[in-house]
Amino acid sequence: MQNYAKLLNFILVFLLAHILHCSRHPSPKVLSYHVVAEYPHDHSAFTQGLEHDRLCNNTTQECLDVFWESTGLYGQSSVRQTAVMNGEVLMRTDMAAQHFGEGLTRMNDTLYQISWKSGLCFKYSVKDLSLIGSFHTGLSDGWGLTNDGRYLIITDSSHTIYWVDPESLQTVRRVAVKDGDHELPWLNELELINGELWGNIWQTECIARVDLTTGQVTHWMLMHGLREKLLHRQGTKKNMMDVLNGIAWDPHGKRLFVTGKQWPAIFEVLPLEFTAGRAPSLAQVRSRCWPRQ
Ligand SMILES: *[C@@H]1O[C@H](CO)[C@@H](O)[C@H](O)[C@H]1NC(C)=O
Ligand SMILES: *[C@@H]1O[C@H](CO)[C@@H](O)[C@H](O)[C@H]1NC(C)=O
Ligand SMILES: *[C@@H]1O[C@H](CO)[C@@H](O)[C@H](O)[C@H]1NC(C)=O
Repeated sequence: MQNYAKLLNFILVFLLAHILHCSRHPSPKVLSYHVVAEYPHDHSAFTQGLEHDRLCNNTTQECLDVFWESTGLYGQSSVRQTAVMNGEVLMRTDMAAQHFGEGLTRMNDTLYQISWKSGLCFKYSVKDLSLIGSFHTGLSDGWGLTNDGRYLIITDSSHTIYWVDPESLQTVRRVAVKDGDHELPWLNELELINGELWGNIWQTECIARVDLTTGQVTHWMLMHGLREKLLHRQGTKKNMMDVLNGIAWDPHGKRLFVTGKQWPAIFEVLPLEFTAGRAPSLAQVRSRCWPRQ
């Protein structure tokens, strides 16, 4: 009888530990996508930062949907304002040739753009994209950039997300990105959507959705097929096409846009559940989405 009680106790403790463990790290949900629309994109733009904006003229009540875009590569880096509808570059400021453009974000009337290895953050006026200042982020390099209205949210080549105060220039918080217990580096182009951080993992076709309070990946969105679709299309310069990079959210129209480095198109996509039985296993997802360092 005593042994039986011990066994029961053991089973209960085991189950409880298992349940607690699972609730601490629930498995990420796996999603696919559906293409809603496609817009032209400058095929030579090595997209490193992308944000949607809606600019309205208060006299005429007319609004224009634009992207703020940062492009990379030495000697080709820039910040741009482009028209969503036709991809036309409406404004553009080139960076000095020693800087490689990375993430970009708008806060108030300032655009912030980080650089790759020089660890700088450049500030531009949204009115005319004139350079109005720069500062050191204090990070070893710079990859993705977004903001929460108060702080710049930055990733570098590690697995860390940093919150940097654009006024004091201090790093006020950091959190490690994790899928389960696995620390996940290489979260690149970033977007904050309804309080959740979305970022694509460099060199993969996966978007991770990250809970910013814990750093845990809550969803994987598999974007496989988009790059392939463009590669097979007439007019695409295959040797230029690089990886998926670029997520933009239009909160007004609830539209999600994705693109890649030197992709000739920006896609409007809708997250989609896999049909029953078609979802890849979590092990398959992780082998496709975790970076191979
Ligand atoms: C708004 O539109 C009017 C009429 O076309 C134009 O004169 C004015 O310059 C525009 N305002 C801005 C801020 O672009
Ligand atoms: C139009 O009005 C909005 C809301 O008052 C304001 O935020 C925006 O700056 C105005 N736009 C221009 C071009 O003046
Ligand atoms: C943005 O504007 C708000 C409201 O005017 C202000 O409190 C805040 O300090 C500004 N942030 C930055 C980074 O300029």
